[in-house]
Amino acid sequence: MSEGPLQIVVRSDGDEQEIAAAMRVMIAAFPPEYGEAWSMPQLSGMMRLPGSLLAVGRLDDKPVGFALLRSIAGESELLLLAVHPDHRGHNHGRRLLDRCMTEAESSGAQTMFLEVRAGNPAIHLYSKAGFRQYNQRRDYYVGSNGSRHDALSFKIILGHD
Ligand SMILES: CC(C)(COP(=O)(O)OP(=O)(O)OC[C@H]1O[C@@H](n2cnc3c(N)ncnc32)[C@H](O)[C@@H]1OP(=O)(O)O)[C@@H](O)C(=O)NCCC(=O)NCCS
Repeated sequence: MSEGPLQIVVRSDGDEQEIAAAMRVMIAAFPPEYGEAWSMPQLSGMMRLPGSLLAVGRLDDKPVGFALLRSIAGESELLLLAVHPDHRGHNHGRRLLDRCMTEAESSGAQTMFLEVRAGNPAIHLYSKAGFRQYNQRRDYYVGSNGSRHDALSFKIILGHD
């Protein structure tokens, strides 16, 4: 069944309600074995830094996804993107990513970067959105069972790809 359009709220002021909403999705979205989820203090701390932006996506007021972006000196980095497992496959991740790209561009960024664990299905989404891989760090991530995974670096030239 298709879901309605995501209502996306973008904040760069560390609003506590938006941080709490993102944390609810964070806890449900990231597989625990890779330790990729951020804690509330980590997220709040990042939101105190200049250039940080939090986009929270809601359906009927319920937070179902979020993205965290940092933009400095003409470059943006997508630090986190997550959609609650019950709401995947409805293009919410793509909408959050597109909104971040628009926000990055309007902040003056020409390039947007991200890093992702090899094997993460999010790579499908990033590739479809036009990101291209430019680097690979061997065995960068270590899972809780000791498994090692490469880190893949992607980038997109905003407004051109
Ligand atoms: C990655 C994630 C955000 C995708 O969210 P989503 O809302 O399900 O993604 P979308 O529905 O917007 O998918 C967009 C496109 O990517 C593709 N895609 C997304 N997940 C996919 C998967 N698991 N396998 C294959 N393709 C996938 C979709 O098919 C879609 O392509 P289409 O437009 O041609 O149909 C979600 O799976 C997630 O929260 N994962 C855990 C957190 C994480 O690892 N985040 C990334 C690192 S920070």
